[in-house]
Amino acid sequence: MCGIVGYIGKRDVAPLLLEGLQRLEYRGYDSAGIVITGKAAAGRPGTLKTVKAKGRVRDLEAKVPKRFAGTTGIAHTRWATHGAPSDENAHPHLDAEGKVAVVHNGIIDNASELRAKLVADGVAFLSETDTEVLVHLIARAQAATLEEKVREALKSVEGTYGIAVLHADFNDRIVVARNGSPVVLGIGEKEMFVASDVAALVAHTRQIVTLDDGEMATLKADDFRTYTTEGSSTTATPTTVEWEAESYDMGGHDTYMHKEISEQADAVDRVLRGRIDDRFSTVHLGGLNLDAREARGVRRIKILGCGTSYHAGLIGAGLIEELARIPADAEPASEFRYRNPVVDPDTLYVAVSQSGETYDVLAAVQELKRKGARVLGVVNVVGSAIAREADGGMYVHAGPEVCVVSTKCFTNTVVAFALLALHLGRIRDLSVADGRRIIEGLRRLPDQIGEILAAEDEIKKLAEEYAGAQSMMFIGRVRGYPVALEASLKLKEISYIHAEAYPASELKHGPLALIEPALPTVAIVPDDDLLEKNRAALEEIKARSGRILAVAHREQEKADHTIVVPKNENELDPILMGIPLQLLAYHTALAMGRDIDKPRNLAKSVTVE
Ligand code: M6R
Repeated sequence: MCGIVGYIGKRDVAPLLLEGLQRLEYRGYDSAGIVITGKAAAGRPGTLKTVKAKGRVRDLEAKVPKRFAGTTGIAHTRWATHGAPSDENAHPHLDAEGKVAVVHNGIIDNASELRAKLVADGVAFLSETDTEVLVHLIARAQAATLEEKVREALKSVEGTYGIAVLHADFNDRIVVARNGSPVVLGIGEKEMFVASDVAALVAHTRQIVTLDDGEMATLKADDFRTYTTEGSSTTATPTTVEWEAESYDMGGHDTYMHKEISEQADAVDRVLRGRIDDRFSTVHLGGLNLDAREARGVRRIKILGCGTSYHAGLIGAGLIEELARIPADAEPASEFRYRNPVVDPDTLYVAVSQSGETYDVLAAVQELKRKGARVLGVVNVVGSAIAREADGGMYVHAGPEVCVVSTKCFTNTVVAFALLALHLGRIRDLSVADGRRIIEGLRRLPDQIGEILAAEDEIKKLAEEYAGAQSMMFIGRVRGYPVALEASLKLKEISYIHAEAYPASELKHGPLALIEPALPTVAIVPDDDLLEKNRAALEEIKARSGRILAVAHREQEKADHTIVVPKNENELDPILMGIPLQLLAYHTALAMGRDIDKPRNLAKSVTVE
C-alpha cells in the first residue's frame, strides 16, 4: 500500500525520489506525487514545487518538468482510502499558501471531525483525503519550529500515520513521525534518506534507523536526531540491512513471481543455516526468548496470520501437533481480533507475517500483549512492526519478496514452523530418532525443490491446458488441505479464475454437486496414511466425469494428469507439494495475459483495515 520516500543532501533530488518510488511500486498504489524545495536565495525562504499524477510512477515522471531542480524533497505512492484515485487526492498535500507539504501513510480516524472544524474556521480543502487535515493543522500551528508545529498538529490527530513534512520556511530539514505506519531513516554520507520501506533505501545506503511508534525525527543533510512526540530525545543507533539492492532486481526473470519461485531452494537453505543442532537432533532458535522450562509450560499454541501467512500457519499448527504434541490451531488474525478472544496465560501466540506490517496481524498482537499474552513473531522483514512488537520469534530469511503474491516466503515460513515444531518436540517427547529423521528430511528439501522446479516445462503445458477453466476445485486431506487452500488462493489472486478449496473428506457433504467435466479438480494426494482415502475421493470425482490433476508422489490412475513430486518425511511433504502449484498458477495467469506481479485490487502490504 502507500509508500513514502524522501531525501535531503546535495544531489538532484527528483530523479532520486522517482527511483525510490519505483522501488515501492510493488506495494500497490493508484497515484503518485513529489514535492521538492526549490533553491532559496540567501536568507529567504524556499518555495515548494509539486507534481502529482493519477496512475503509475511513469505517469508522474512524464509530468515532471525539465527544470525541476532541488536537493530536498519527499514523494509518495498512494492507495486510495479517503477519496478516489485522482491527481487532487494524490500526495503530497499542501496548505493554501503552498508552504507546508505532507506525505502520509495510514489513516486519520477523526479526519471528518477535524475537517469540519477547519472548514468552519474558513479553511478551503482541495482534496477529499484525511491527510489534508494534517497539512492545515501544521500550517496553522502557532509554534516557532517545524518540529513543534508537527508535534502540535499530531496532538489533535487520532489514527495511524507515517508522515514526512517539508516547510518552505524551514528548508534545511525534513521532519518525520511514526505511529502505526513504518518510517525508516537511511543514513548516508552528508545526505539522509527516509522511506516507509527499506526497498527504497538499499540502493543508496544500508545503514538504517527504524522509528518506533510515537517517535519523530529531524533529517538534515549531515545530521539526524530522533525524539518522541512529547519532545524528549531518543537514542537511535543505525543498523545494517542484510538485503542488498540487487535482491530487488528481476535478475533476468520476466516477473518477480517467477524469480521468487525459482529462488526457493536457496531460500530454504538460508532458513535452515546455522540452526540445526545434530548433537541433540534439534534446532537452535535463540530469538524465541523462551527457555526450556517455559516451553514445557506451553499448553496450547494459537497461530495468527492473514492470507498466505494464515495458510502457512495452518500447516505450522499441524506440524506442532504432530511433532510436539501440543494442541495448536491457526486462525485469520483479521477475525481473531474482532471476536473478543479468550486469552489464556498458558497459550503461546504466534503471529505470522511476510511483511511484518499487516495491520490486522499487528492489531491482534497489540491486543494480545495488552491482555498479557506471550506472542512470538514468525516474520520475513527484519525490524518490521510485528517483529518489534513480539516478545521473540524467528526470521524466515526468505529475502525480499516483491511480487504481490507470496511464494518463497510461504515455503520458508512453513520450514520455519517445522523448525519450531522440532524444537518444541525435542524439549518434550519427540525421540532422538524422530528428531534426526526430521532433520534429514529438512536437509533434503533444497535439492528436492530443485527437482520440482526442473519440471517447470511440464507444469507449463498443464497450465495451458487448464487455463480455459471458469472455475477450479482444490482438495486435500489433513496435511494436504492447507496446501489446497494456498494453491487455490494463488490461482485466484493472479489468474482471476474462481477457485475453491475443500477438505477431500467434505466432498460428499456438498461440493460434489458441482463436479462435472467443466470443473477441474486439483487433488493433493501424498503417499501417507491417508493415501487410500484420497484415492477414494478421486474415484468419487471420476464417477461424475470430473477432470483431475493430482499432485502426488506417484502417478495416480484415476487422475487425468499427475504432477509427481519427490517424497520427503510425511510431516514435511506439504512443504514440497505446494511448489508445483505455484508454478501452475503462474503459468495459468501467464497464458491468460495477466499482470502477474501486480494483480488487480491487491497490495503487497495491507497496512490498513
Ligand atoms: O505480509 P503478510 O504475510 O502479513 O501478508 C498477509 C497477506 O496479505 C498476504 O499473504 C496475501 O494473502 C498475499 N497476497 C498472498 O499471496
